[in-house]
Amino acid sequence: MSKKIEIQNVTKIFGDDGIDDAMALLDQRVSKDEILDRTGSVVAVDNANFDVDEGEIFVVMGLSGSGKSTLIRCVNRLVEPTEGIVRVDGDDITALDAKGLQAFRRNRTGMVFQHFALFPHQDVRTNVAFGLKVKGVDVDERMALAEQALALVGLAGYERSFPAQLSGGMQQRVGLARALATQPDILLMDEAFSALDPLIRRQMQDELMTIQAGMAKRNTILFITHDLNEALRIGTRVCVMKDGAIHQIGTPVDILLRPETDYVAEFVQDVDQGRVLTIASVADEAVSVRAGTTAASAIESMNQSGREAIHVVDSDGRPVGVASMADAREAVAAGTTGIDDVCQPTPNVTNDMMLAKVYQLCDDGLPLSVVDDGGLLVGVVRPLEILAELGRVENISEQLEQAKIKGTSS
Ligand SMILES: Nc1ncnc2c1ncn2[C@@H]1O[C@H](COP(=O)(O)OP(=O)(O)OP(=O)(O)O)[C@@H](O)[C@H]1O
Ligand SMILES: [Mg+2]
Repeated sequence: MSKKIEIQNVTKIFGDDGIDDAMALLDQRVSKDEILDRTGSVVAVDNANFDVDEGEIFVVMGLSGSGKSTLIRCVNRLVEPTEGIVRVDGDDITALDAKGLQAFRRNRTGMVFQHFALFPHQDVRTNVAFGLKVKGVDVDERMALAEQALALVGLAGYERSFPAQLSGGMQQRVGLARALATQPDILLMDEAFSALDPLIRRQMQDELMTIQAGMAKRNTILFITHDLNEALRIGTRVCVMKDGAIHQIGTPVDILLRPETDYVAEFVQDVDQGRVLTIASVADEAVSVRAGTTAASAIESMNQSGREAIHVVDSDGRPVGVASMADAREAVAAGTTGIDDVCQPTPNVTNDMMLAKVYQLCDDGLPLSVVDDGGLLVGVVRPLEILAELGRVENISEQLEQAKIKGTSS
């Protein structure tokens, strides 16, 4: 994967004559508050270092005042970094002259803000075509491209409407279409969905991910939010900032399961993990026997592996069902020899499925079969582990016990 954006030792201090002093104090690791007291300067970004890979949605997450907007603005130099280098495709953006910078902003970046201005007296299509006009694209082509971008964000049919005739969510889509219309290499999105109500917001997040996934050449997106759930939901990787400093950069699962600082740990403790955790995080190695195996030897396999249930697979390795220890014992007692006769079918799941979506499948208490693209058994997920992970154990484990009793007696 190639590096699209490189942020190297980027520091931004706001202030007048105190900046050099503030920089010196920062080098001595004096706190942000004390630097403000002593120099009157604000440390907005403190030595940021990271790369954004081509095609990823890189989310910068932090509370108000943590330096997110300052950082994203350093990328297109709406804010000039006090120190450090920003590269895009290897080009040093911090070294561009005024003309070079203008061309970079026009041709290679698109920006979407929380509150951005649409031109009220121009229709939606003309608004979307604005960036293309600035680029010098002729009118027919830019209107065609604007229409394509509007279709992409679900606004086909609204080309001739005026901004005031659209809802807030629709206006935000127009803003996204405007940024997408110029087909920028990188999209800079600063709290782009934060003003929307939750349902529309989730729709926009889904659409952004769909658009991103459907692009022949994926945009690289630098996305700013103060909302951890949004960050975890859409981020390929998430960068957590506090007081201008980066605390952790990792995948959503890294951030949730392996927080590297106390601050991150505290931040994530209340998250509904089911929304981001997938089957892969709770799946275990499957223990299986072939269809046709005797109940007695299935019991032996369970004893050896310490499992309470075992998968039965066909000769290709596809799951046929699951037999519990109780089922198998009952079979032996009843004189039934084959394990197939007592195994029960269970739902198949795949490693990329969200826990929150599969937990309903656990209602009969049997382990689920994790299968690969070809339908072969690759793992097992026990319902209690899913529920434990979801923090729902207390409420539902009783129901599960009931279901198990019912399941094994049938
Ligand atoms: N133009 C400016 N002049 C002086 N200080 C500034 C300026 N812009 C930002 N700051 C300060 O820099 C720090 C970081 O601000 P920034 O806007 O980057 O935070 P943020 O994480 O985007 O916050 P929010 O979530 O509220 O948008 C804050 O302490 C802020 O007061
Ligand atoms: Mg901001």
